Amino acid sequence: MSHDVFYPRQPRAAAVLSLIGNTPLVPLRFEAENLTIYAKCEFINPSGSIKDRLAKTVLVDAEQRGLLKPDSIILECSSGNTGIALSMLGAAMGYRVAILMSQGASVERRHLIRQLGAELILFESEGHYETGIAMSREMAEKDSRYFLPRQFENVLNVKDHEMHTGPEIIRQLDGPVDAFVTGYGTGGTLAGVGKAIRAHFPQSRICAMEPSEAALLLGEMPCCHHIEGIADGFLPQLLQQAPLDGEVKVSSNDAMTMTKRLHREFGLLVGTSSGANVAAAMTLAREMGTDKRVVTLLCDRAERYFSTSLFDRIPSEEKA
Ligand SMILES: Cc1ncc(COP(=O)(O)O)c(C=O)c1O
Repeated sequence: MSHDVFYPRQPRAAAVLSLIGNTPLVPLRFEAENLTIYAKCEFINPSGSIKDRLAKTVLVDAEQRGLLKPDSIILECSSGNTGIALSMLGAAMGYRVAILMSQGASVERRHLIRQLGAELILFESEGHYETGIAMSREMAEKDSRYFLPRQFENVLNVKDHEMHTGPEIIRQLDGPVDAFVTGYGTGGTLAGVGKAIRAHFPQSRICAMEPSEAALLLGEMPCCHHIEGIADGFLPQLLQQAPLDGEVKVSSNDAMTMTKRLHREFGLLVGTSSGANVAAAMTLAREMGTDKRVVTLLCDRAERYFSTSLFDRIPSEEKA
């Protein structure tokens, strides 16, 4: 999985591969609350989300092990960010990409995937991920050209965050990490970063952020929430590897409010899950003490949400 020295089959791919990871960690100072939250800026990755890391690790590993052939088709079920990341690298590395996506995913994500030259296969949103995952397996059984990154079960998903994202945070913070909190989709980030931080700072608290409307880890029934990209109604198997100490619930409304604060008070154009993550980090910091260092992630960019309620204007905001 070593991809620090790697010569892709297509030399042109080296450019975009070199832009992935090593993202900045910035302090966010909330004066009114007298709190500072440390945020790792994953939205700065070249396709705009944390999922560039997974795409790089899985595709570089597959190419190194000879699993990707010139006629391979990379096939994955994704609510958007992983699909965009795989499409970006497929374009640069010279592979066809097909993405299975629920009809409920925002239209911006579809545009980006198609713009990168990948094929988009939409399925009914009611079935959630299980439908798309089953479809990808069936397609792969019938056609050996399909290569499945399998983000929900691939151990490289966790390993990459354990070997890279986590150690980057530890190096950048240069001192104890008192707590780490983030949401989960596949659970890869929470498990990998959580393991790295726990190994380095055994006293640190590792927590999962969950939408209040779908707090599955707390044993509640999943319901509709508006924090895209996370908590899709089931507990992913990779999450079992996360050294969890607790959960922090954030409502969709609070996530939107905090995301808008990040836009308007900090000038950081991030997506809804980033606002939810920061809101969860603030809850932890209030609980643990304002001098504690709580780290979270800004997962993706705001441009991905133009067609969602994050960009709904309230009448008082409109100028006469
Ligand atoms: C938009 C978005 N993508 C991805 C992730 C991380 O997902 P995973 O659990 O699949 O690593 C998050 C986590 O907060 C997220 O908000």
